[in-house]
Amino acid sequence: MSSLVTYKITGSVAVLSVENPPVNALSPGVPEGISAHLRTAAADPSVKAIVLIGGGRTFIAGADIREFEKIHAGETGSLGAILTAIHDLENCPKPVIAAIHGTAFGGGLETAMACHYRVAVAGASVGQPEVKLGIIPGGEGTQRLPRLAGIAKALEMCAFGDPVLVSDALGAGIVDEIVEGDLLTGAIAFAQRVAATPPPRTSERNEKLGDAAGNAGAITAAHDAANKRLRGQAAPHAAIEAIEAATRLPFAEGCKKEAEIFAACLSNDQSKALIHAFFGERTVAKIPGIGRDVPIIPIQRAAIIGAGTMGGGIAMNYANAGIPVLLKETTQEALDRGMATITKNYMNSVKRGRFSEAYARGRIALIHPQITWDGFDQVDIIVEAVFENMALKKEIFAEIDRVAKPGCILASNTSTLNIDAIASATKRPEWVIGHHFFSPANVMRLLEIVRGMATSNTVIATSMDLARKLRKVGVLVGNCRGFVGNRMFAPYCRESIFLVEEGCTPEQVDGALYRWGMAMGPLAVQDLAGLDVGWRIRKEYKQLEKPGVRYAELDSMLCEQGHYGQKTGKGFFVYDENRRASPNSDVVAMARDYAAQAGIAQRTASPDEIVERCVYALVNEGARLLEEGFALRAVDIDVVYLNGYGFPAWRGGPMKYADLVGLPKVFARIREFEKQFGHSWKPAPLLARLAMQGSSFSAYDRSKG
Ligand code: NAI
Repeated sequence: MSSLVTYKITGSVAVLSVENPPVNALSPGVPEGISAHLRTAAADPSVKAIVLIGGGRTFIAGADIREFEKIHAGETGSLGAILTAIHDLENCPKPVIAAIHGTAFGGGLETAMACHYRVAVAGASVGQPEVKLGIIPGGEGTQRLPRLAGIAKALEMCAFGDPVLVSDALGAGIVDEIVEGDLLTGAIAFAQRVAATPPPRTSERNEKLGDAAGNAGAITAAHDAANKRLRGQAAPHAAIEAIEAATRLPFAEGCKKEAEIFAACLSNDQSKALIHAFFGERTVAKIPGIGRDVPIIPIQRAAIIGAGTMGGGIAMNYANAGIPVLLKETTQEALDRGMATITKNYMNSVKRGRFSEAYARGRIALIHPQITWDGFDQVDIIVEAVFENMALKKEIFAEIDRVAKPGCILASNTSTLNIDAIASATKRPEWVIGHHFFSPANVMRLLEIVRGMATSNTVIATSMDLARKLRKVGVLVGNCRGFVGNRMFAPYCRESIFLVEEGCTPEQVDGALYRWGMAMGPLAVQDLAGLDVGWRIRKEYKQLEKPGVRYAELDSMLCEQGHYGQKTGKGFFVYDENRRASPNSDVVAMARDYAAQAGIAQRTASPDEIVERCVYALVNEGARLLEEGFALRAVDIDVVYLNGYGFPAWRGGPMKYADLVGLPKVFARIREFEKQFGHSWKPAPLLARLAMQGSSFSAYDRSKG
């Protein structure tokens, strides 16, 4: 008998406890165990009722997501056994009570809904979050949930995937009773009360369903809301369609419909992409060669140098994590300005209801503004966020080398400079690392952790751990120009500008990528970041530009006219005082003149070509980063793009997207671009090789070549 589900008898009640830590997922063996114990309980005349509970910290928190991956990989998976257990629960002749604590999500809630009653502790929550993985409930949840909670609630839960607290679930009819005190004791008492009553089946309850005509408005509204909140995603609409089936079909037929829709979702690339993104965040936390035995430095105090755009945001991250932080500037005026911005940001969050005022004040009190080095010898980490200038950074690192205590991490937030060169200003390069935050630093989840040549494993492991504490996704990257994210972003932006130079309007370029799923179009992003940033860097590195190679010019031309993007009110778009964008007709005229003078033929590009030009530029550079070892794995690149660049999770990230399109196809298109546009489209050798082998970025392991 399965050890994943235990069986015990208390008086006249059989207790089935799922023991599959950490979250009691419905892994192979769990549903089979439930079915087997149900048979035993049904056959035992002394058993009058059955309680299904989870051991440890939760009820069944969901299906085992690895099973979906197996199905994606063409293997069978074990979802059939879950449906069998669900049917066995509902058809059991004796009442079965689900006793819920922790979370009953996805398959967990579907299992509970197949039971005849549900009791829960006050802190528990229930939900159908499958859409977040690009699928819909596949254990008849789309047919049982509307029967318990009505169509509106089922639509909300299945189409958007947000969890529901037990108090709400009680009101909605999903849960029958909230247990005070010990859950098992309460559940057994409940079971004894209902033992003599014939068990009610959720599938036979139709009183909350209404009919198709009466629900049409709610269905349409749900589709509209999904279009807005989950733009581009198929699963929310699929979930709505399955629930709609419950309004017009008998239970068994509704379940058939759900099964068809579920299978279609599971074979859709969007579920492959979202499941890849889900596991990706866990994978990037694993660094080959750095095991659990590497000591982690407790970070109890921090210091930040520079209270500008980035320094202020970084200070907020530390304060939000409860870590006291010194914030140093050169002048009182700059310091006051920095603190005023921090206070304004917190108060905006208070206004929006995210924090209470007392909480915000408490966080601000953790940030200690100063213009001296006082206390820098006490901190566990110093993060430098001054102007992007090597001489200045070296000066600062030489100084912090003098003041910092031994064992203090010295981090730079540089976005382009060489970490090893910065580290060379200190006598302790093994303590130096890049912590590349993204703007706005208090909002964006990505933290690129840049490993220098000498950076120690302890400093890397502590940085990864600290990222989690700061509620960031830390991704370890190598020390090259632009690191992973910005190095790939450069060719992406270049192509977006080339397209305008070739005759597309900025609205066409950004529109195509926005509709494809990007959070913002590339030209609007450049306007937001400030066109002057790239323009200054370009002027500084002008001598590195190769003759005969085409470079994007329109952004520099805009800067020369004083148009830096949002900050000056004009860039690729024109901005009003609320930063709302409208077309800048000057850009089209500038592009026309420039193209004529540079001999660039103007033409229109289709939305598909726009997307391919920009996204394949990301892929090609990503392949180089991967082969050169600056990214540990393809998934690390994807996680960078999903968390720092507004790449849609349902496309998986640039490398997963290329895998899904198929590398031979991507490679062939890049070859065409190379013929058409020349050198900058030279295919990355790794892409060429994997495409020839019929392999994928996901399967590539650099250590094996
Ligand atoms: P910023 O110009 O807003 O802030 C820099 C601050 O450093 C200023 O307030 C300045 O007074 C202060 N500062 C200069 N010298 C100092 C010194 N010796 N001691 C103390 N403070 C000093 O610049 P921003 O945008 O915050 O950039 C800072 C760093 O972060 C740069 O290395 C930049 O490349 C990097 N970064 C910027 C991003 C962005 O989007 N702005 C994104 C990621 C990284």
